[in-house]
Amino acid sequence: MIYDVVVVGGGIAGLMASIEAKTAHNKVALITKGNIFKSNSSLASGGINAVLDSSNNEEIKKHIKDTVESAKGLEDLKAIMYMCKNAGRIVEKLVSYGVEFDKNEDGSIAQRSFGGGSSKRTCYVGDKTGSAITATLIKKAKSVGVEFLVNNFVMNITKLDNSVSGVVSIRRFDSSIVVYPAKSVVFAGGGYAGIYRGFSTNASDYTGDLLAVALRAGLNLKDMEFVQFHPTGMPKTSYLVSEAARGEGGYLVNSDGNRFVNELDTRDVVSRAITEQINNGQKVYIDLRHLSREHIETKLPSLYKSAYAQAGIDVCEELLEIKPVAHYTMGGIEAKMTSTDLKGLFVCGECANNGVHGANRLGGNSLLEGAVFGELAGIEALKFSQNKKFLPIDYEIVARDIKVVDTIFSSQTTKNFNAMRITLGKTMFELCGIHKNKEKLIQAFDYLKYLRKEAGNLHCIDKSKGNNVELIAILELKNALEIAEAIVLSARKRKESRGAHSRDDYPQEDATMKKSILVHEFQKGYFKLWFEGNNLWSKIRRKLLS
Ligand code: FUM
Repeated sequence: MIYDVVVVGGGIAGLMASIEAKTAHNKVALITKGNIFKSNSSLASGGINAVLDSSNNEEIKKHIKDTVESAKGLEDLKAIMYMCKNAGRIVEKLVSYGVEFDKNEDGSIAQRSFGGGSSKRTCYVGDKTGSAITATLIKKAKSVGVEFLVNNFVMNITKLDNSVSGVVSIRRFDSSIVVYPAKSVVFAGGGYAGIYRGFSTNASDYTGDLLAVALRAGLNLKDMEFVQFHPTGMPKTSYLVSEAARGEGGYLVNSDGNRFVNELDTRDVVSRAITEQINNGQKVYIDLRHLSREHIETKLPSLYKSAYAQAGIDVCEELLEIKPVAHYTMGGIEAKMTSTDLKGLFVCGECANNGVHGANRLGGNSLLEGAVFGELAGIEALKFSQNKKFLPIDYEIVARDIKVVDTIFSSQTTKNFNAMRITLGKTMFELCGIHKNKEKLIQAFDYLKYLRKEAGNLHCIDKSKGNNVELIAILELKNALEIAEAIVLSARKRKESRGAHSRDDYPQEDATMKKSILVHEFQKGYFKLWFEGNNLWSKIRRKLLS
């Protein structure tokens, strides 16, 4: 099958991109590695930030200022201004597609407070905003004729010279390699917080597959060390206790019943304050008991149910224990707005880094970013595809991918990918988590090297080709190990504390490091890192590519 535009990723960014890219006369496919209803966007509960009155420049400026302050010097102002100025319009577009945001009594869209926000600007659908938006966008995408290619695991992209020519993927139902030639491609495949398995709100397969694909295609990753820890996950399951709970007035209290932090400060500050309490032997809880049952049941229905189902707690009457967990990753594929160094490849959403979040993202800005830049990526990908010819597929890449799959099926193994995946999550949380230092990072790096070597000997125990979960899990693990190494190396290079990146051995911000760190894989398994603007080699490379 050939397509004018192929979009990879079924969250808010990918869905928006596919809808924008589709016209009456072209073919657009949306590829997802699993079920279309399962994405991080659908889990983003609390809301989407927007100044709804697009003529209210004062409020828009405040949104821009809050976003810039949270980014701690690593922002791209053009991207932030574009996002904040288009926020009201994009919410209107979502409403026109059928999203039913909660309303005030006068019929206007209700908005709640979120961390780091100087105004109430988070629009919501109870505490299931992401799933309400994605469900609506799925219907919209189907109605305009986007083709859904679900259960397709993207292994690589092919290119000719410096232009994208197609996508190589494994069709999960029979494990065959398929190629989708395309004039332009949009990557919207989500972030990598799922690498912190067991300590993350993300599904465990959110491990940065497309970032690994981008590295293999010669692109740079940017600011990989910035991993956001959400202050409130449930201790046993890491299930997200939405920031909406604090936005609706919930308190954080320790075992002595004392509040110890401004609950609506940015997530980095709140997560560190909670960790300090826990390190001092306290437990930390969210306290909603002062809110009425009716308020909780209408504004926080998912939390009400999940606290009961997962922890046996009635939050109207009892405290719910929480702990910080990995939630979102600011790092991603280097982009200018939605463009990359590879012609015809556009990126948006959590897998991209165009500087809109810098060193730390504001709660409520991720659904916004996904919607605004997803729309833009779709527009750009459509424009690029028009009046273009299909380029030839690089069958060397396809042959290499076939060989990779054959090798995973062919031999016997004594290694257990699942055990490796679990220890990877634990290692990353303990050694490259909320608080880092040189010793921990060296240990993490050594362990990753060991795991990468072990992962080379992973093969399927079950040799059947139909829906082989082991095959995909092994490929995901290999990608995750590559991305984990990029995180740890970047964290080692950033010898300061800034935003979500906290080094106990360098507790202050260092003005000389107010720059992004770029990562390039110059040879399989070998990374080169540099501070943006500091590297002659990167300038030469850019010149060659332009
Ligand atoms: O807490 C939350 O509901 C998460 C929202 C977000 O990450 O933007």
